[in-house]
Amino acid sequence: MTVCEYKPGLEGIPAKQSSISFVDGHQGILEYRGIQIEELAKHGSFLETAYLLIWGTLPSQEELTDFEREIRYHRRLKYRIRDMMKCFPESGHPMDALQACAAALGLFYSRRALDDPAYIRAAVVRLLAKLPTMVAAFQLMRKGNDPVQPRDDLDYAANFLYMLNEREPDPLAARVFDVCLTLHAEHTINASTFSAMVTASTLTDPYAVVASAVGTLAGPLHGGANEEVITMLEEIGSVDNVVPYLDGCIAQKTKIMGFGHRVYKVKDPRATILQSLAEQLFEKFGADEYYDVALELERVVSDRLGHKGIYPNVDFYSGLVYRKLGIPTDLFTPIFAIARVAGWLAHWKEQLSENRIFRPTQIYTGTHGEPYIPIGERQNADDQDQLTGLITE
Ligand code: SDX
Repeated sequence: MTVCEYKPGLEGIPAKQSSISFVDGHQGILEYRGIQIEELAKHGSFLETAYLLIWGTLPSQEELTDFEREIRYHRRLKYRIRDMMKCFPESGHPMDALQACAAALGLFYSRRALDDPAYIRAAVVRLLAKLPTMVAAFQLMRKGNDPVQPRDDLDYAANFLYMLNEREPDPLAARVFDVCLTLHAEHTINASTFSAMVTASTLTDPYAVVASAVGTLAGPLHGGANEEVITMLEEIGSVDNVVPYLDGCIAQKTKIMGFGHRVYKVKDPRATILQSLAEQLFEKFGADEYYDVALELERVVSDRLGHKGIYPNVDFYSGLVYRKLGIPTDLFTPIFAIARVAGWLAHWKEQLSENRIFRPTQIYTGTHGEPYIPIGERQNADDQDQLTGLITE
């Protein structure tokens, strides 16, 4: 077997053949099943987009109405899952709570019939329907309140904002949030989708697949960046401090959150749409004190690092939208997960249609023929990393 050239992070190495989405990182193009993201953001809804991603075609009115009705019916959580959430520490991160709840669904729906389209549809509906309820429930519980039940008279986005804030959202806020979900739904073989594919390839259940992807999305280099962007803008504090901040990052070689991308070497098309959504909200509900800082940071970073293809990615403006919608910062990534579960499920279904378990190889850099040294003849390790102090927390 010939070993291909090793590329750290598998950069540029195809992991599958897929027809779900397409990205041109130099033209700044993103398409879901061949439809440009700008068209879906302008004309579509998140559930319509989720249907498109998962089943490959835009649903008819009847298909969409049936799908929306099923989602509404399955939004509620088993009381045992709510009881489990009551044991979670308030200080825990909502992504850890979401990962635990997603995995717990597998306890209630343990039948695995991966070759049964009805089973596939049921898993898709349950995960799309229940993840928002989990996120909203954790938010209310960690404040010491009882979670509110979903409202069947509200659409997907409005219902989430209602469950989160305990009041019906403004129609513009609900529409903007729905578009944000569409923008975050899918993005070819990103880290969390790759986790989903690898987990799916072992033929485990879809709840374990999504739990695996949620854990991957949580990292600050991936979905966790949207939360870090707000922290960064708060740290910069003013337009005058943008250049000194950037100088510091460049000098210390630290990554600027919300910028750069493995594929896009121009501004992420989703960032452009999110920026216009933010401006719509600012016009109606008032400006955000950090928007000018964000604009100046984009200008200066593009000027100083644009030659390296470092431009805003999807996470740079999303946080400003969510802040204006009254969403707590540490819920930004769980919201990313609520949307991306559509893409994870699309890739889960596609993986099952032509499955081969993922098992890459390696380039071995260790030694051979080492002796087994009796413990009495061994020395303590030199480097401090291996020294284990008493874990006190
Ligand atoms: C998402 O893959 C997807 O599709 C992901 C995503 C999706 O929809 O699923 O789009 C969502 O995860 C968006 C990315 C969110 N993460 C961040 O905003 C964190 C900050 N960004 C970086 O960590 C970075 O840009 C990555 C992780 C996103 C991409 O990193 P790469 O492709 O591994 O690039 P790299 O680290 O090899 O950097 C290449 C060069 C380096 O400079 P040199 O050492 O060659 O001189 O670019 C520089 C890096 O220092 N660079 C940055 C930078 N990102 C890359 N320099 C400053 N700030 C940055 N943000």
